[in-house]
Amino acid sequence: MKDFAGKNVFIAGGSAGIGLACARLFSQQGASVHLFARDKARLLTARDEVSACCADSSRCFDCAPLDVTDAARVKAVMGKMVEKHGPPDILVNCAGQARPRRFDEISPEQAMHTMTVNFAGTWNTVSALWPGMKKRGGWIVNTSSVAGFMGIFGYTDYCASKFAVIGFSEALKSEGEAFGIGVSVLCPPDTDTPGLAEENLTKPPETRAISSTAKLMTADEVASALLAGIKKGRLYIIPGFDGKLAVAVKRHAPWLLEAIMRHAMKKAVQ
Ligand SMILES: NC(=O)c1ccc[n+]([C@@H]2O[C@H](COP(=O)([O-])OP(=O)(O)OC[C@H]3O[C@@H](n4cnc5c(N)ncnc54)[C@H](OP(=O)(O)O)[C@@H]3O)[C@@H](O)[C@H]2O)c1
Repeated sequence: MKDFAGKNVFIAGGSAGIGLACARLFSQQGASVHLFARDKARLLTARDEVSACCADSSRCFDCAPLDVTDAARVKAVMGKMVEKHGPPDILVNCAGQARPRRFDEISPEQAMHTMTVNFAGTWNTVSALWPGMKKRGGWIVNTSSVAGFMGIFGYTDYCASKFAVIGFSEALKSEGEAFGIGVSVLCPPDTDTPGLAEENLTKPPETRAISSTAKLMTADEVASALLAGIKKGRLYIIPGFDGKLAVAVKRHAPWLLEAIMRHAMKKAVQ
């Protein structure tokens, strides 16, 4: 996909953070953008902000309140949006959350909730839109994290959910090819968003120390990487130098990554 003008873009988790930054950028490049998230007031404000970024008045901007964990509702709401605007050329799954804590402080309820929002939520939107996208092709971007490649202290539930998103996306890519559906998996490092501010409230010092070894990115930088990654047809979109380096070290010298993380954690608790 080389050009986003006139494309129909659906963004789950598009009312804040990385999803909202992507929505603005798609709109600036002439796409019609439709947003989904739970909080209706924030969603309407986001839709107005996104539509104001577009110079082309023939483009269309819509939104619908939705909790991606409710599979039946996802099917119904996405179905209505497809009736109104047609199936998406591009689906971006950005709804997600992290509540870092030590393993023994994470309740089974929190662990299941993390899996449900981050993994099942992604599954639900793809399932709802897959039949329509199969008819004419398109592109799906699921959001994992750098923490989807490596286990990080304080993120036992989050890492499990983000590893799952990577496995899901790789398998989906191989099934999508026959229908002209491309798949990317976005793997950002720490990014300055309302979600990260919330996440920082529960971060153990060790997790905070590991996070501080990489440069904080802006949501706009991550959105630019996402759009560039789709244009290049990338499966993995890893924004920023630090994220790419961490993933490369994990792949080629996992012992070195462990040593770096252990060193940061040791300093944090001294
Ligand atoms: N920020 C980072 O440092 C970072 C790093 C790596 C990966 N990520 C991943 O990137 C994605 C976006 O993160 P972010 O920091 O931009 O988050 P954010 O600022 O908290 O924004 C999350 C968006 O998703 C929506 N959302 C959350 N739960 C939802 C649900 N159950 N159903 C529907 N919508 C939901 C939120 O709106 P409502 O609350 O109104 O529903 C909001 O629009 C997440 O998957 C996150 O795990 C983030």
